[in-house]
Amino acid sequence: MKPQLQAISTLALVLFCSSISYADLPPSTPARIEAGKALYQKNCLACHGEKGDGSGPAGKMMKPKPRDFRHATFVNGDKPENIFKTIADGVPGTAMAPFKALSEEERASITYYVLFLKNGK
Ligand code: HEC
Repeated sequence: MKPQLQAISTLALVLFCSSISYADLPPSTPARIEAGKALYQKNCLACHGEKGDGSGPAGKMMKPKPRDFRHATFVNGDKPENIFKTIADGVPGTAMAPFKALSEEERASITYYVLFLKNGK
């Protein structure tokens, strides 16, 4: 293959692969869950509690209460891509605010930590 042609086909392949979407959500890995734990403790624990049971000190007075990840139904759904979106958009009309300052990588990590709290694994 001519070098130019090879360069063009490599470029086409790169463009093609980067257009494949997994809802912008990278996969769950032990490293992401670990990173998500630290981010959760900083951003979410005050309301949702250390174990994700909704018992955080700031959450006590809230109506509606912060979600107990272990038992409650998630109104926006509990698939990884749903939680990933909830963290970005919040739940309108509740204390669950949108976390716009978190990067997608950070939201992905927190998503997997929330699921870890929810499912115990
Ligand atoms: C200021 C308190 C507060 C903080 C901080 C907070 N939440 Fe929430 N969160 C809530 C409340 C209140 C609800 C319940 C909303 C409702 O009843 O619909 C909620 C609901 C949720 C839900 C369930 C949404 C659904 O679909 O039902 C998820 C998931 C969630 N929070 C994740 C997080 C994550 C992750 C963080 C940290 C990045 C976070 N929250 C930080 C108060 C908070």
